[in-house]
Amino acid sequence: MRKRPLGKTSLEVSELALGTWGLSGDGYGPVSEAEVDRVIDRALAVGIDLFDTADVYGRGEMERRLGKRLKGAGPTFVVTKIGTDLDELPAKKRFDPAHLRTAFERSQERLDRDVVDVVLLHNPTVAAMRSKEPLAFLRDLKQAGKIRAFGVSAGSADVARSALRDEVDLIEIAYNAFLPGDLHEVASDVSESGAGVLARSVLAHGLLAGQWSPDREFYADDHRMHRWNRDEFRTRIRQLDALRPLISGPVVSLRSVALRFVLANNIVSSAVLGPRSVAQLDQLVREAGMPPYLHFTTLAELSGRLKHAGIEVSAG
Ligand SMILES: NC(=O)c1ccc[n+]([C@@H]2O[C@H](COP(=O)([O-])OP(=O)(O)OC[C@H]3O[C@@H](n4cnc5c(N)ncnc54)[C@H](OP(=O)(O)O)[C@@H]3O)[C@@H](O)[C@H]2O)c1
Repeated sequence: MRKRPLGKTSLEVSELALGTWGLSGDGYGPVSEAEVDRVIDRALAVGIDLFDTADVYGRGEMERRLGKRLKGAGPTFVVTKIGTDLDELPAKKRFDPAHLRTAFERSQERLDRDVVDVVLLHNPTVAAMRSKEPLAFLRDLKQAGKIRAFGVSAGSADVARSALRDEVDLIEIAYNAFLPGDLHEVASDVSESGAGVLARSVLAHGLLAGQWSPDREFYADDHRMHRWNRDEFRTRIRQLDALRPLISGPVVSLRSVALRFVLANNIVSSAVLGPRSVAQLDQLVREAGMPPYLHFTTLAELSGRLKHAGIEVSAG
């Protein structure tokens, strides 16, 4: 497993990270506890040392599980995210320091770590980012030695840019061949600030694995049921044709194309994978490839093909 620096932090992390939203049962439907443990154990066995979670995944159960499973497993890094008040009904986004302090202390206890490696604000809006208090709170935690690094999980380029200008250590952002624009938009801010980048949703929630029929149905406990209407879904499936010519030689699948697209970008510190089984994790690890992942000329041609297929590639 290759390592990359996590931006300007002194941490070096595996270039593949294990994301745990899907494993928590939130988002995509249930996964058995035994399989969750097997996936975590398998990630460790293949050299993954970065684990991405959030206080809301499984209402804290995912953090608790990681805390147990990673105990004594050697050096690992956990990224968690806070900023949602689940005590409110319905749950409410809250980034005021009083809430963040309680949330952090609960996460720290569930993760069973004296020092939590990375804490991110979980999807703040641009308006929430205008208050300097949330990031000041995380900066204080870092100065007190309770965390090693902090940042923002950003749902848009505007939020990411605001975080980078506030000198966060890292951002987490959706980045994949069908959604490259947000990271491309802030790439120069990332380089200037030296921040790390965790790229998530590298398979566009499974779409880029290219295994779905245009008539695939999603069920009620799966967020994908609401993500695309039928016409959008069929268009997305058709757009996969822009990626197919890249399958050649060691690039054996669309999944491999998608993962290599992310890893080929050297401002990415780690690609946060979302496998929901050991089999899926093994496929991803096997097909990630090695530098340069995809050649520069291939990427340039791909950019043209994606634009032609109607995908917004870059805003600058
Ligand atoms: N706001 C945030 O901070 C935020 C938001 C989203 C995600 N994340 C983090 O990023 C992680 C990944 O996000 P994501 O769920 O959007 O990731 P993703 O990798 O784009 O999608 C995950 C889905 O891809 C499919 N998949 C995974 N491995 C596969 C394989 N080998 N072959 C075929 N299909 C495969 C699975 O779908 P099936 O279930 O259909 O098999 C899985 O549910 C999350 O677990 C979480 O840690 C953070």
